[in-house]
Amino acid sequence: MSSSKLPPTVLVLTLALLFQTSLGADPLSYVCYNTQNFTSNTPFDSSLKTLIAVLTYQTPLTGFGQASFGQYYNQQAYGLSLCRGDVSPSDCQTCVSEATSDLLGRCSYNKGAIIWYDNCLFKYSDQDFFGQIDNSNKFYLANVKNVSDPAAFNYKTKELLSRLAEEAYESPKMYAAGEVKLEEGKNMTVYGLTQCTRDLSSDDCKKCLDDAIGELPMGKEGGRVVGGSCNVRYEIYPFFKE
Ligand SMILES: *[C@@H]1O[C@H](CO)[C@@H](O)[C@H](O)[C@H]1NC(C)=O
Ligand SMILES: *[C@@H]1O[C@H](CO)[C@@H](O)[C@H](O)[C@H]1NC(C)=O
Ligand SMILES: *[C@@H]1O[C@H](CO)[C@@H](O)[C@H](O)[C@H]1NC(C)=O
Repeated sequence: MSSSKLPPTVLVLTLALLFQTSLGADPLSYVCYNTQNFTSNTPFDSSLKTLIAVLTYQTPLTGFGQASFGQYYNQQAYGLSLCRGDVSPSDCQTCVSEATSDLLGRCSYNKGAIIWYDNCLFKYSDQDFFGQIDNSNKFYLANVKNVSDPAAFNYKTKELLSRLAEEAYESPKMYAAGEVKLEEGKNMTVYGLTQCTRDLSSDDCKKCLDDAIGELPMGKEGGRVVGGSCNVRYEIYPFFKE
């Protein structure tokens, strides 16, 4: 565990890496979730590289990419990437490029992993996970500040998010964002966002979002449930582009 005897080159490298990652946005979270590793120059390795190249090209076109490569059992790579519904194609491409290279570094040689940023997510696996709600890769974020009138706030916020969930699952982009005034005549608005990965059926998108809304940290000035198949978020400031 001791790192006091690090050779100077390692230290310089570490500083260089720190500096490099500080230039881009930090991920919100990531999980290296597979119990198996792969090795270099195997069919899985090359499938994963092809997958990443294709997703990096494909995702900015519509905000979503999904592909699989490889023909040998246990050596196939399945993956998807999704940009937040309001993100421009160029920001989407930046995010996906960063997500893919960052995740390969953080979960090196893991056969399944996922990473989330504000602007995008990227997930790959050696198993076909398309069309299934990901209930295992999920995390929660909450603003530390409590709202002053939680009962009214929670009611309005859930109402907004439920409406957005309806909108999202019926729309081709499976994305909806919007806002609601908390009280007539008062200057306080809550902003919400709901989005699913487009490999889900619309029924499963709805289910994923409803479950996430049920698990949201409430009564805070902001909260999120971020998963592998959908995410919901609310804030008291505008955080998405209209
Ligand atoms: C996979 O690689 C990681 C990191 O190198 C290592 O800690 C882990 O034990 C490996 N797992 C298996 C199943 O070989
Ligand atoms: C927010 O409310 C919870 C319980 O209602 C309380 O435990 C917590 O200390 C409050 N946090 C702040 C920052 O006031
Ligand atoms: C409403 O609140 C926002 C942010 O708190 C502030 O910038 C804006 O000036 C306010 N508008 C009015 C009409 O009070």
